[in-house]
Amino acid sequence: MDPFQGNYQNLAMKNLKALGLDQFVDFRADYSHNVLPQLYKEKRSFDFIFIDGDHKFDGEFVDFYYSDLLLNNKGYILLHDTWMRTTRLVMSFINSNRPDYRYIKTPLRNFALYQKIGEDKRNGMHFREFFTTKSLMKHHGITWLTTGKQNLLKKMAFKIKDMIK
Ligand SMILES: C[S@@+](CC[C@H](N)C(=O)[O-])C[C@H]1O[C@@H](n2cnc3c(N)ncnc32)[C@H](O)[C@@H]1O
Repeated sequence: MDPFQGNYQNLAMKNLKALGLDQFVDFRADYSHNVLPQLYKEKRSFDFIFIDGDHKFDGEFVDFYYSDLLLNNKGYILLHDTWMRTTRLVMSFINSNRPDYRYIKTPLRNFALYQKIGEDKRNGMHFREFFTTKSLMKHHGITWLTTGKQNLLKKMAFKIKDMIK
């Protein structure tokens, strides 16, 4: 789904067609906040969902909310752009409020992978604070590492970060 493919001359679908792969793609030229509930109404479900659309916090959070409803048990959600504070906050929410998800470490940079490992058993008033200073510091650290002039300190810090990961 993507409401803005027209801005890119619909290149994605044109390329898929040229490869004979368009028959496997159900493309919807609309916002995810329209398409995801529609898919839910259609009783569709998925084993893997990639979230990489609107990167404002509310947009990404809504994408996670509906993706969860559409995801099969043991299915995976992959978030892109973990360098962004908004994605970090969505991750903090999942880590603090969704024990039915587990974070899976991967060697991929800038991605976060989660697996659904059970049912959502929270009651209707459940809430755990998901702002964490650690998450904020991580975001500032990543921003410092990846923007501005590169130097030896940044290169070494990047290497250590990758080793820890
Ligand atoms: C960061 S790009 C990523 C595109 C693709 N996943 C990639 O890696 O090349 C974000 C894409 O999401 C689309 N997008 C932005 N807001 C959206 C929304 N609310 N619903 C669906 N797609 C959206 C944009 O048009 C853009 O193509």
